[in-house]
Amino acid sequence: MATDLCGIELAHPVVNGSGTFDAIAAQRAFGDALLERFPFSAFVSKTITPEPRSGNPPPRLWETPSGLINSIGLPNKGLDGFLAEDLPRLGELPVPLVVSVMGTSHDQFRRLVSGVAEREEVAALELNVSCPNVESGTIVGESPDETRSLLDAVRPLTDKPLIVKLTPNAPPVPVAIAAESGGADAISLINTLRATAMDPGGAGPWLGGGSGGLSGPAVRAIALLQVSEVAAAVSIAVVGMGGVASGGDAADLLEAGAAVVAVGTESFRDPAAGRRIASELSARFGLSSSG
Ligand SMILES: Cc1cc2nc3c(=O)[nH]c(=O)nc-3n(C[C@H](O)[C@H](O)[C@H](O)COP(=O)(O)O)c2cc1C
Repeated sequence: MATDLCGIELAHPVVNGSGTFDAIAAQRAFGDALLERFPFSAFVSKTITPEPRSGNPPPRLWETPSGLINSIGLPNKGLDGFLAEDLPRLGELPVPLVVSVMGTSHDQFRRLVSGVAEREEVAALELNVSCPNVESGTIVGESPDETRSLLDAVRPLTDKPLIVKLTPNAPPVPVAIAAESGGADAISLINTLRATAMDPGGAGPWLGGGSGGLSGPAVRAIALLQVSEVAAAVSIAVVGMGGVASGGDAADLLEAGAAVVAVGTESFRDPAAGRRIASELSARFGLSSSG
């Protein structure tokens, strides 16, 4: 089950999706037991932005049949708060650390990448490109040109692996190819699909942010298609995610060409899901290799 992501050794191919597992809160709740049996083979942080953000007004979540719409709005401590308070604690986790960053300009991304990459606790960075570039108004990850230009801006700043996390809200293949040509070491996908929900009482949109992103089993078939198309189009590693809730779901993404699989929404239902899915995957491989 041991594998490798951009030269980082992983004990098994199951990591977490950014923003879906709070390792610091989990350690408060479960103590050292969490560290002894950590659910993931690498930990991907919640996305951080240059300045602190309080996130969207509530309500922030809506359950759909087989899915979850979130409109969290990236609450985070900002770069300085993250580096001072969270990073030292995340650095004590027993697995490699990937830090997810998002900015709205090249300058912001440069500040984030330089500030995070120089820290020894960090094994790799994930660029969350589901955000507008304030200068052009375009969502970076919906445009191959914007994505390539972002890579041109940040690639020279670090030798650490850069993973580009794609949005499913635009055709991902041209964007993945642009990221690879700009020097990305891996592609991760899918992020959430734009979605909304209405207040059952007739008061308009339910979510405080107006709309949000759909995740969970409801998006699994879309993720499987997008992962297989991207994996066929690039030669760098692909981290596949979207609705993974079992070892079978993870095996499907691996078969579609992903090198590593991430678990997101399922961890809200079962915080130990990553470990269960890794062991289901291992049992599956054991069974298939013994015929
Ligand atoms: C509550 C919540 C918060 C999320 N926060 C982030 C985030 O901060 N950065 C990011 O790149 N993706 C974020 N995601 C997207 C997940 O990492 C993942 O890409 C997506 O949910 C699809 O996987 P899943 O269906 O297994 O949840 C978030 C998803 C959820 C449900």
